[in-house]
Parts: sequence; C-alpha cells; structure tokens
Amino acid sequence: MSSRIVVLISGGGTNLQAIIDACKTTDYPGEVVGVVSNKADAYGLTRAETSNIKTTTLSHKSFENRESYDQALISEIDQFTPDIIVLAGFMRILTPAFVQHYQGKLLNIHPSLLPKYQGLNTHQRAIDAGDKEHGVSVHFVTEELDGGPVILQAKVPVFDGDTSDDLAARVHEQEHRIYPLVIKWLCQNRLNMKTEEQNEYAFLDDCVLPASGYAND
Ligand code: GAR
Repeated sequence: MSSRIVVLISGGGTNLQAIIDACKTTDYPGEVVGVVSNKADAYGLTRAETSNIKTTTLSHKSFENRESYDQALISEIDQFTPDIIVLAGFMRILTPAFVQHYQGKLLNIHPSLLPKYQGLNTHQRAIDAGDKEHGVSVHFVTEELDGGPVILQAKVPVFDGDTSDDLAARVHEQEHRIYPLVIKWLCQNRLNMKTEEQNEYAFLDDCVLPASGYAND
C-alpha cells in the first residue's frame, strides 16, 4: 500500500518537485496527498496544484504564539491522514508538541553536512570557513533544531571563487537525489528512529546508522 505523504514548504519547492516526480515513477511506495505552506506566495503551491495535489496555506502571522500556530498546523496536516510528514524548505522552528506528535514520521532536509552549520546561511558559512567540502543531510526531526539523527548525507566540492548561489545550486542537485530515496525507505518501513539512554538513533533495516548517516563516502 502506498504511504500518504504530506510536504511542508515555505518557498520555491524544488525538493517538493523532486518528491512529486519520484512518486510518479513505477512502484514508488508513496504519494504526496497534501502540501502545506506558511506562505501564500510560495511557488511550491503552484507546483503542487499543477500535479493536482491539494494545498493549504496557514500563515503564522495571525497566531499569538508558536504553540497555537503549531496546534493549528497539526489540525491541517492531520486532515490529510498522513503516514509521513516531510519538511522541504519549511522555514519555521517547530515546538516540542509538534515534533512529538509526529515522532519517527517527520523528516527534514538541511543544506549542510550536519552537525556542521545548523541554522541559516549554511552555504556562505561553509565558504567563509574555507571548507573544501560541503553538502546536505536528511535527518529525523527531534526537539533539537537541525539536531535529529542523520539518515543520509551527500557531499559536494567547494571550488575557489564559488559564490553562495553556486554552492546552493550544487547542493540542490544532490538534495533532489537523496530526499526521494530516504522518503522511499521510510515508506517501505525500512527506517525508524529509536531512543536509547536519551539519545535518538536512526535505524535502516534494523542496523543503527552512524552519526553521518548511511554510506556517506
Ligand atoms: C533547501 O535547500 C533545503 O535544504 C533548505 O531550504 C531549501 C528549500 O529549497 N532547508 C533549510 O534550510 C531548512 N533548515 P526548495 O524550496 O527549492 O526545496
């Protein structure tokens, strides 16, 4: 049976597009049943509508605090009766209540080789640090911002003279390859997250994944 995927976005939605395209391929074990944005002008909404996927916009501006927004967000998401929730450029910090509600079913993609460069401006920070290598991580979401167990990373080289946009484009290409793959593993029930002695670990096919995720070299 196909897993029901809800994707949360705030912007252009190129990762959303990669996921939609993957779902259309033969035997992919999931389908995007809904897209939720916190921004009405997110181009990702148009991408979803073009593929006849239902969309919802829930602006955070009319809510008093993070907790009330996240409760409303849960209500919107749960109307799609999802199996998996995918953050694809959803640029909000989530409350513990939200994260706990979807524990083990909530994935994020972050444009750095975590644990390096949690937070924003990751490409410029890698350039400023003189890194020769940069990349992207897909991880389970936990209460710690960009801190959940890594499932898969992809690396890209940093070349002399690269701008932040150059590097972002190179990273994006890899994002579009690895995110549909990890989502597929979760749809197939091959992936899960377990807590041991207050630390969370990602497991693939019952094997614990190292801190840098599966087969990162
Ligand atoms: C992606 O690069 C993703 O890694 C990043 O936002 C971009 C969204 O692009 N996410 C974060 O920075 C989360 N902390 P997209 O809208 O084209 O998919």
